[in-house]
Amino acid sequence: MIAGLGPFAAFFGRLIMKFLLWRAKRQGLQIADDCNLVGFPVFGSEPYLISIGKHVQITGKVTFLTHDGATWGFRDLPEFKDVIKYGRITVHDNCFIGIGSTILPGVEIGPNSVVAAGSVVTKTVPPNSVAAGSPARVISTLEDYAAKCAAESPVYDKEAMKRDMKSELLKLFPYPW
Ligand SMILES: CC(C)(COP(=O)(O)OP(=O)(O)OC[C@H]1O[C@@H](n2cnc3c(N)ncnc32)[C@H](O)[C@@H]1OP(=O)(O)O)[C@@H](O)C(=O)NCCC(=O)NCCS
Repeated sequence: MIAGLGPFAAFFGRLIMKFLLWRAKRQGLQIADDCNLVGFPVFGSEPYLISIGKHVQITGKVTFLTHDGATWGFRDLPEFKDVIKYGRITVHDNCFIGIGSTILPGVEIGPNSVVAAGSVVTKTVPPNSVAAGSPARVISTLEDYAAKCAAESPVYDKEAMKRDMKSELLKLFPYPW
């Protein structure tokens, strides 16, 4: 579901997303069918250098960069004219890629890992870890993050939450005035 849009806009939004994904796959993007895209990522000019495993959630405004265009400054010089700088990006199963993050060429994100919102991932992220910042550094294990989320999770009425999430969330987090 594309949050905040009316039903018609959401329908067309989904259609456009489907088309863009179909096109990226035709261009060689590898992505498992059960991945969840919240907004359409920038897969860049070499989608065929991107592999995304099963059950990965990619949130909004995520960019995958498979080349380093910064070679611009010297690539016209004769001694550097044949230099190339590309790299495959591999996201393994069950990862979460936070909003607004950028994944640079050659990065591998291990299974069951989280990339925090706004991160710039320059190096491989080990399995079962949470990486954050620019450049992204491991800040915890997935296990510790899960335990912390569980410990901090408020008590709420599960049935009421299913029926009317907005009212339940406003009970937990009321307007300040
Ligand atoms: C990374 C994340 C999972 C960590 O959650 P958390 O463990 O509850 O994080 P905390 O708030 O306890 O922060 C732990 C440390 O990481 C830092 N940190 C948290 N999120 C960060 C981020 N996005 N970028 C950089 N540093 C971050 C905190 O500043 C803190 O640092 P400190 O120990 O030096 O004070 C969470 O912040 C996040 O980014 N989630 C993804 C959000 C998102 O993209 N949502 C999209 C919804 S569709």
